[in-house]
Amino acid sequence: MRAVDLIIKKRDGGTLSAEELRFLMRGYVDGSVPDYQMSAWAMAVLWRGMDDRETADLTLAMAESGELLDLHAIAPLTVDKHSTGGVGDKTSLVLGPLCASLGLPVAKMSGRGLGFSGGTLDKLEAIPGMRIDLRPDEFAHLLRTVGLVIAGQGTELAPADKLLYALRDVTGTVPSLPLIAASIMSKKLAAGADCLVLDVKVGAGAFMKSLPEARALARQMVGIGQHAGRKVAAVITSMQQPLGYAIGNALEVKEAIATLQGNGPSDLVELCLALGAQLALLAGKASTTEDGYKLLTAVLNSGAAWRKFREFVAAQGGDLSTVDDPRLLPEATVVEPVAAPHDGFIGAIDADLLGLAVNALGGGRQRKDDRIDPSVGIVLVHKVGEFVAQGTPLATIHASHMDMFIQVHDRVQGAFHLQHSAPASLPLIYEVVEQASNVP
Ligand code: URA
Repeated sequence: MRAVDLIIKKRDGGTLSAEELRFLMRGYVDGSVPDYQMSAWAMAVLWRGMDDRETADLTLAMAESGELLDLHAIAPLTVDKHSTGGVGDKTSLVLGPLCASLGLPVAKMSGRGLGFSGGTLDKLEAIPGMRIDLRPDEFAHLLRTVGLVIAGQGTELAPADKLLYALRDVTGTVPSLPLIAASIMSKKLAAGADCLVLDVKVGAGAFMKSLPEARALARQMVGIGQHAGRKVAAVITSMQQPLGYAIGNALEVKEAIATLQGNGPSDLVELCLALGAQLALLAGKASTTEDGYKLLTAVLNSGAAWRKFREFVAAQGGDLSTVDDPRLLPEATVVEPVAAPHDGFIGAIDADLLGLAVNALGGGRQRKDDRIDPSVGIVLVHKVGEFVAQGTPLATIHASHMDMFIQVHDRVQGAFHLQHSAPASLPLIYEVVEQASNVP
């Protein structure tokens, strides 16, 4: 087999077989297929597309390019979630304990955030002492004993994706639906969970800007899961404004703690229950989504999920006194308000702009080895639809010094779009995409 023939086949609108895709992915990882050939192939895919079978086979070829975790010896059934990326998205910190306290083991391998405020691992590391670099035996032990473990990827999962994603980034081939779906799902399949819920964000602050795009991505990923014998559902949710009020690592941990203690913002609570209900359904804990919703509400209200979070933090070395009294979590020295420039209703909050502002404050990284300041961030005072009077606070900025506050002030103020009339209310959850066999 020759890579050039496969590029030509795709260029001319053909469909590659599983064997041909394995040849390309293996060859890319072992160096026998060079970057220039992979670039040409990726561009051909971007223009020609892939059918569902081909996309699923590509995903499996990418997953099989590295280690495939098999967690069944530790837990017969595990659940996981993936979000396509949102600002203020601390869902995993709440959903993990919710599911685990319902008896659904959560084994989560996370990446670190790049570009926006931190990822799940960065948020967890805002808790002093918290260890997320776990050895495989520690990972297995915590999954068995606590039923909830969140860690960085020890071994490299789906190395073909890592190489290909970096190549797509510099060759204009990121916005290809089959390549995005295969990229996300290859890592999730390799991480071994039996049941997976995907939170596909849509809106100005998300990767997918429109509902039809988000729906197409969701359908493709759910289909890949089905082809691979996993149970997968996708929930399409709004990223027209940040989730909850807090953006920034320690600030988001505080909001997650408040949520687990029953005092969470309504959008965050609703999203966690909706994602959890899908997992409960997929895992056979609930017979309907409504059932799942009730079961999760019960573990939230009883305090069981909060106790599970404490157990998880302690098991991974985190200082429990800081989660019991979140004022002990890292706090910024400068906490100053950003005022509304005039009266008005908030019509939209640009989540992208706020995410970038938190990044500029030091709450995220621009390069892989940048250090994160866990204390900095932004806390919204108001959300979309609310009225603000001129001079009253829209948000507070948590910064390491006054210069940083001044540097991001205008960007934060500009993220709030004020208008004369109240905007139409926004849905948080647009729709759920299920596998064919799950549709009654
Ligand atoms: N996230 C991924 O992991 N891969 C993509 O291609 C896009 C978003």
